[in-house]
Amino acid sequence: MTTILAIESSCDETSAAVCSNGKILSNITANQTVHEKYGGVVPELASRAHIQNIVPVVDMALSSISYSLSSIDAFAFTQSPGLIGSLLVGSQFAKSLSLALDKPLIAVHHMQAHVLANLIDDPRPDFPFLCLTVSGGHTQIVICESPTKMKVIGETIDDAAGEAFDKSAKLLGLPYPGGPLIDNYAQQGNGERFHFPEPQIPELNFSFSGLKTSILYFLQNAGKSHVYKEEKIATTQEQSKFIDENLPDLCASIQQRIVSILLNKLKKASIETGIKDICIAGGVSANRGLRKAFEEMGRKYHWRTFIPAFEYCTDNAAMIAITAFYKYLEKDFADLSVTASARARW
Ligand code: KG4
Ligand code: ZN
Repeated sequence: MTTILAIESSCDETSAAVCSNGKILSNITANQTVHEKYGGVVPELASRAHIQNIVPVVDMALSSISYSLSSIDAFAFTQSPGLIGSLLVGSQFAKSLSLALDKPLIAVHHMQAHVLANLIDDPRPDFPFLCLTVSGGHTQIVICESPTKMKVIGETIDDAAGEAFDKSAKLLGLPYPGGPLIDNYAQQGNGERFHFPEPQIPELNFSFSGLKTSILYFLQNAGKSHVYKEEKIATTQEQSKFIDENLPDLCASIQQRIVSILLNKLKKASIETGIKDICIAGGVSANRGLRKAFEEMGRKYHWRTFIPAFEYCTDNAAMIAITAFYKYLEKDFADLSVTASARARW
């Protein structure tokens, strides 16, 4: 029996999980609300909150299953990518435990872990499978040939899908992170009401910055009633009134476009590779519009579709633990000179 304690601290969630032979026993996450009023994650505040949260979170991951540190065989942590100050808290903590208890250390790539969240529960995809990973920092299509062998075959050339949600929400006056709020309002809205353009990007890559600009221009003209220098523009009050009166339809239309951009590329990837076991992962895979459209597309094209449980979609240490388990089997250990890194290829 191999028992691993894993820590995730790449952005604004402090999380710790325990897994035994690939089975998740506990997964505790502390969210940081301090960023809400700033419209995005403030790196210094995130690092400080991680420092405050890490001891109680690790303690709860162990005590909730009546385990102690002495039952742990290896310590894992998110090495990259992420906010460097945030990553340093988790990496130093895991390194200290590994040194003090003389147990192996395992460094995990956050994006690899998002993909492997699909191996936590049954049913699991067969290898090779495709995974669309959509988070606040990344949008990638990956071919996963084994738990430790993956290749990125498409990615965003500008904003990530999560950023597209969050920035659109900000334009609508919603607080950060706006993705879940757009999801909520979209439930009551009509996604066909407003039309935002789909960018024509080559191969399997994505772009979301044009969508943000088109929403901005659209809102500048929304509810306009007066003419200024021969041009019609809406006053701030007219824009706010228009947003208030049309929020569900606006959210549903924005969400529908983001989802179609994502799924059209995923469909292309499946046709090009011939792979029909297909997963989604990352924070945006919690989006109800994406989940539903993904499953509908799967039925239409005879895919086997996989979506991690909600708690394994957004940042969590369970996905770090499962990835570390496969690295443990290959004895892929890090030494104490390993450092956290804001960016790293994998
Ligand atoms: O994977 P994640 O928790 O953190 C990163 O690694 O970035 O993803 C966070 C992103 C945020 O942009 C958030 O707005 C988005 O995931 N998100 C959602 C939903 N839940 C989280 N976007 C749309 N609908 C949701 N339900
Ligand atoms: Zn993430």
